[in-house]
Amino acid sequence: MFILKLGGSVITKKSEQGCFRPEVMDNLAREIKKANKEVILVHGAGSFGHILAKQYELNKGYKNKDQIHGFSLTHAMVQTLNSFVLKSLHSHNVSAVSLSPHSTVKLNDHGLARMDYKIFEEYLDKHFTPVTFGDVALDEKLGFSICSGDLLVMALAKYFKPEKVIFVMDEDGLYTSNPKINKDAEFIESTTIEKLEKLTTSIDAHADVTEDMGGKIDTMKNISRLGIDTVLLNGNKQDILYNVLIGEDAKCTIVYGGKK
Ligand code: IPE
Repeated sequence: MFILKLGGSVITKKSEQGCFRPEVMDNLAREIKKANKEVILVHGAGSFGHILAKQYELNKGYKNKDQIHGFSLTHAMVQTLNSFVLKSLHSHNVSAVSLSPHSTVKLNDHGLARMDYKIFEEYLDKHFTPVTFGDVALDEKLGFSICSGDLLVMALAKYFKPEKVIFVMDEDGLYTSNPKINKDAEFIESTTIEKLEKLTTSIDAHADVTEDMGGKIDTMKNISRLGIDTVLLNGNKQDILYNVLIGEDAKCTIVYGGKK
């Protein structure tokens, strides 16, 4: 089985609040159906979540009453995005069911305190495609905070030990530095956790690397430590996801899982 994270920067327009990209999602849904593999889908919040979450400082936990309203607005926005994702999957005959973190996950100081894995298992056993997403969630220490899609991916990977974890993004994969700024940036086709450690150090030295990529590297290191391969690929380009799912060659970065 595969765990797929559809990044918020690919399924939404990140700078425009609440702007979904239906044609990108439809392509991905078509490729997921065509590949016919067992998958758990996790999607990011993109502009449906990040803008409000930042405005109300939801990741800092409970500080003032206004945030309660901000939490409920953010929750509704990501739920709306989730319904768009489900609609697209259903129209491509993927039998998706939504499992919302705000009602099934409990955090503790940003980390995962509780998650209902059994419900994912039960739906998979019955041949459904479980879909979960970056959301707001209750936090035992902070009152509430943000449950990112990457946190869910890590927890699900640990529990389900998938064949691969695939991050669908708006870039082809990893580069030695930010390709949008540095024309000498080299594409990395494959790497290991050890090489990634060194790369992170060199990336930290480059002020131009995107914040998103820094966080992603940490997530990948954690997945590699489980002995699982991680693939990064571009969701804006046709058939890359499909080819990776069926094991064909495609432009992407593979981070080989380290020894368990
Ligand atoms: C963030 O989820 C959730 C909220 C802001 C409510 P993610 O961190 O997984 O979203 P993307 O992929 O970066 O958009």
